[in-house]
Amino acid sequence: MTFSTRSAWRLDPNPLTARLDARNTARSAPLDLTRSNPTELGFGGIDEALARALTAPSIGRYRPDPLGAREAREAVCGYYRDHGVVLDPAQIVLTASTSEAYGYLFKLLCDSGDRVSHLTPGYPLFDELARLEGVTLAPCPASLFGRWELAPPPSAHAESRALLLVHPNNPTGHLVRRDEREAMVAWAAEGRRALVVDEVFLDYGGAVPRDASPTFAGESGCLCFTLSGLSKVAALPQLKLGWVVVSGPEPLRREALARLEMIADCYLSVSAPVQAAAATILAQRGPRQRSLCARLDRHDAALRAAFAGSAVSVLPRDAGWYAVLKLPRVMSDEAWALSLVDAGVVTQPGYYFDLPDEAMLVLSLLTEEDEFFKGVARLKAAVEASLGAAT
Ligand SMILES: Cc1ncc(COP(=O)(O)O)c(C=O)c1O
Repeated sequence: MTFSTRSAWRLDPNPLTARLDARNTARSAPLDLTRSNPTELGFGGIDEALARALTAPSIGRYRPDPLGAREAREAVCGYYRDHGVVLDPAQIVLTASTSEAYGYLFKLLCDSGDRVSHLTPGYPLFDELARLEGVTLAPCPASLFGRWELAPPPSAHAESRALLLVHPNNPTGHLVRRDEREAMVAWAAEGRRALVVDEVFLDYGGAVPRDASPTFAGESGCLCFTLSGLSKVAALPQLKLGWVVVSGPEPLRREALARLEMIADCYLSVSAPVQAAAATILAQRGPRQRSLCARLDRHDAALRAAFAGSAVSVLPRDAGWYAVLKLPRVMSDEAWALSLVDAGVVTQPGYYFDLPDEAMLVLSLLTEEDEFFKGVARLKAAVEASLGAAT
């Protein structure tokens, strides 16, 4: 056998991709309600100040620091100061992306075959990232009672090395509540486990509830790794800069940082231009985030208005770039998504994100205005036609 088991993926297209491919060759392109690449949706501009920062003369010299350039780590501390948390740059590890940060953390916390719990629904890439490190993911489903409710893993997860959570969640947009956070920190601290908290969407709050937890970057009750990066914070995924904030009790924190430094030293993957420009990029994020938030809020409100009083409900959303629709369970989420492709509109079935076994679909609220409004109208008409045909 030439290849590893961990790379033995099923590489044939899934049913939705196959249906889309067939449709795209046969007819006009459908309205796509899944687009979320900000650089293709009107948000990716690089202005003169940023272009200058990315070509600063200092990048002519290679001065690798495994944790990342000090000025860039200071800029990340500035970001957290704006969130009310004071950090030392020595607590920050820069990476090329949040996804790479997960790889570092799995290497740090787990041996091959170890288990990590993760709260579902959640980010689809976790399965692949864990598999690439030989880590087994143990799902821990959130409950949906009007709104999402999170609880720490049950006793069956006693062997888990860590708990992954996305705050606010992708795709539900749920922000962890303060009492939920306390329970999860206690679970981690009791078992000398770690919390890994992905906060890439933290700055995209719609209606942030009063009892929502702030960033975990200042968490001191357990070993905690808070992840984020420019792909969402600055809507600049092409620049490739992520980070991990390490917090928690000494000496665990110190040892985690020393080991992470060693891991990062094996790759030195963060490029000099983006580190040189990190302060400028983070200083510019306000207007960018405000224009994204304006679109997200407008589309969220329009979606709720479109489906008010209908058989489709739009689930509550605290934050983030996505909306979740709950459709009547006359067919599965995948069957709904396939029938919508036939009607000329693309959505993502909830099972991609481990949404519970119901007919849920995920839409990107970042889709451009014209496509979004036409797409939602077409989706509504197609759902009504399906329900009419079923009765
Ligand atoms: C929850 C979540 N975490 C991480 C990422 C990836 O971020 P990066 O581009 O920094 O790897 C994404 C991308 O969509 C995401 O949705």
